[in-house]
Amino acid sequence: MNFSPAKWRRHFPLLAAHHELHYLDNAATGQTCAAALNAATAFDTQSRANVLRGTYRLAEQADAAYENARRQAAAYLNAAGSEEVVFTAGTTASINLVAHAFGEGLHAGDEVVLSLAEHHSNFVPWQMLRERRGVVLRLLPLTADGRIDLSRLGETLTPRCKLAAVTHASNVTGAVTGLAPIVAAARAVGARVLIDGAQAVQHGPVDVAALGADFYAFSGHKAFGPTGVGVLWGRGEALAALPPFLGGGGMIGRVTVEETTYAPPPRRFEAGTPPIAQAIGLGAALDWLRAQPWADMNAHTARLAQRLIDGLAVLRGLTFLGPRDLKERLPIVSFNLEGIHPHDACQVLDEYGVAVRGGHHCAQPLMDFFGVQGAVRASIAPYNDDADIDALLAGLQDAVRKLK
Ligand code: ALA
Repeated sequence: MNFSPAKWRRHFPLLAAHHELHYLDNAATGQTCAAALNAATAFDTQSRANVLRGTYRLAEQADAAYENARRQAAAYLNAAGSEEVVFTAGTTASINLVAHAFGEGLHAGDEVVLSLAEHHSNFVPWQMLRERRGVVLRLLPLTADGRIDLSRLGETLTPRCKLAAVTHASNVTGAVTGLAPIVAAARAVGARVLIDGAQAVQHGPVDVAALGADFYAFSGHKAFGPTGVGVLWGRGEALAALPPFLGGGGMIGRVTVEETTYAPPPRRFEAGTPPIAQAIGLGAALDWLRAQPWADMNAHTARLAQRLIDGLAVLRGLTFLGPRDLKERLPIVSFNLEGIHPHDACQVLDEYGVAVRGGHHCAQPLMDFFGVQGAVRASIAPYNDDADIDALLAGLQDAVRKLK
């Protein structure tokens, strides 16, 4: 295997400085890689100016760095061009942008298809759109182990559907969505498709051309980049068809007292000063990630997930959320221990230097489906190793002793 987690870890200053930390909350946020930190600092110390406004040389340097970040993001996504990349504040902002801009053209009775496995960020904006426009939300059901049940696609995604908005992978179970049939069904009725890529981007470059969707949303901080920045990728014609969401500087063609015309995408959707240093940091992170040995890294994280699942199986009172089969599944493992609140388990684990998230994971409809209020979640990144998994398992054994 052409991959060493110990060497990879050295690219993450926080982890390099905290050898005792077993960081397994990567679905909440990845650690920031040095490439991102260095690029953002270089911008702030060498070429900081506002972008897409100034005509002096420093501003031109800032413009070049910002547009380079757009190209780097486009390359990571295999987009047709950098004009298809809109910088936003993150996945939530990207999805809200589509819910407002695309939602503006919807009418009462039009249908939006979601799944029961969505994060609140791909649920609540559509409920809010339902309140504004009277659209109908239809939910793709789940199989007993929490996968999106594609056998029910035909009855859920009907000719009244205008948009299907589904996750690329669940932030709770790690289950990867079978997107091809959803995209094909949407295409067949002329509906758009938005993919919530928040979890998937951390596990290797994404090919939006192959996915065939119209919109793809993700956050920088989950892709080992800075916080406060994200991307909305939109197919050229899909973005061009959208009205703006936020109004302000930078997104206009011409403003008169009577009316305003709008800039073409992506600037139409970037009102105000964008998160410049963060976008430049994200571009550098994605550029660095694109060159990594993903097949080996994904084999490594899948092996760790299997080690964890095998170790969990011997714990008394354990229930596992999601498919056990590691095929078509990200290394995100959620579970409960009978009689132990997830927050209590997390506190004991913290004593072992293990950082995991416990709670509803912003996916309460999915928790309701599983009939639980929350779960403990371990989410694995390529810098994790056997010692991280073993510390988690040791901590859980202690939690069972202490809390049961
Ligand atoms: N969406 C992030 C998570 O699932 C915050 O933890």
